[in-house]
Amino acid sequence: MAEAQRNEVPEDVGSDDCLTSYTHIYAPDLLKNQVAFITGGGSGIGLRIAEIFMRHGCDTVIASRNLDKLKEAAKALSAVSGRRCLPMCIDVRQPDTIVAAVEDTLKEFGRIDILINNAAGNFLCPASSLSFNAFKTVLEIDTMGTFNTSKVVYEKWFKEHGGNIVNISATLAYRGQALQVHAGSAKAANDAMTKHLAVEWGPNGVRVNAVAPGPISGTEGFRRLGGSSVEALASFHSIPLQRAGNKTEMAHCTLFLASRASSYMTGAILVADGGAWLTSPNDFSTLLGYWSSEKKRDK
Ligand code: NAP
Ligand code: COA
Repeated sequence: MAEAQRNEVPEDVGSDDCLTSYTHIYAPDLLKNQVAFITGGGSGIGLRIAEIFMRHGCDTVIASRNLDKLKEAAKALSAVSGRRCLPMCIDVRQPDTIVAAVEDTLKEFGRIDILINNAAGNFLCPASSLSFNAFKTVLEIDTMGTFNTSKVVYEKWFKEHGGNIVNISATLAYRGQALQVHAGSAKAANDAMTKHLAVEWGPNGVRVNAVAPGPISGTEGFRRLGGSSVEALASFHSIPLQRAGNKTEMAHCTLFLASRASSYMTGAILVADGGAWLTSPNDFSTLLGYWSSEKKRDK
């Protein structure tokens, strides 16, 4: 990597831990006294988004299914940032659980300024081996989950007070990524939803944007989609920037869209993938080979 580029890459750690050091590139008080509700905020990209937001003065709610994991993450996040983080148990497929969590958030914090729809489920699977229920499950988590959470937060707070929504998307559908019909279809629907909701909720002071990450190291998504084997071979040569992205980079993009730094943006999808979707192979037979060898190993 050229030195000029190496100097641009922010700190990250590969595990679901907080950063050991952090250098601000935005004003440290950019989100001062704001409140963000982050689905899937207990791991991976969502956890780093929570951390970077908190390091910019924000209090957070991190919400997903595994409460033990969330409690541990919330403790660590508060310790590094000095801000409040509430762990809340929700399943984005069940609107009642979201309603309860949003009501609790408003009781505790009295406001919500930012919603990050980050919760998702994915795995590699060729369409012909994908069960009807597997396709439905991913659509329900990624697409219904994003709608359900957006609608609850809008009705309970954003409609009267405005706010910012950032959906965490993907580039899978841009070229019909092999073994990804479920997640690609779900994220394409989310990109459409980003624009529809931007149009309908703009007059109420709500901006709706999305970040579309490429391969991001140190995440479950990366591991599940074969990224680790590419990393082990150090073969990122097909990506223009010649490397995977990191979670802090995704958090910075999300911070940009969630903050006043992007005050005139809505309905936009910010692709943050090192140029990967433009040039990376979309090789059905190679991915099929990888999928079958993983399946054999699991048996
Ligand atoms: P991750 O750590 O597995 O994040 C997914 C989160 O979603 C988990 O914290 C999980 O927590 C939560 N979740 C799953 N199902 C849920 C449900 N039904 N209700 C509530 N929460 C649920 O994976 P990640 O790789 O960081 O992915 C984060 C986001 O980035 C996803 O939207 C993904 O599509 C996107 N993305 C990632 C990459 C990548 O390279 N990693 C690339 C493109 C896009 P619980 O298990 O506790 O519910
Ligand atoms: N390949 C093919 N099908 C799979 C699969 C895989 N690797 N994993 C699960 N499925 C199928 C199941 O067999 C089931 O279908 P069936 O009833 O026809 O057998 C269906 O998907 C639902 O699986 P289930 O385990 O009941 O769903 P869940 O709601 O408990 O979990 C998942 C959802 C499957 C998405 C799970 O992997 C998950 O919780 N993921 C969250 C973390 C994640 O995916 N992170 C990466 C984000 S990019």
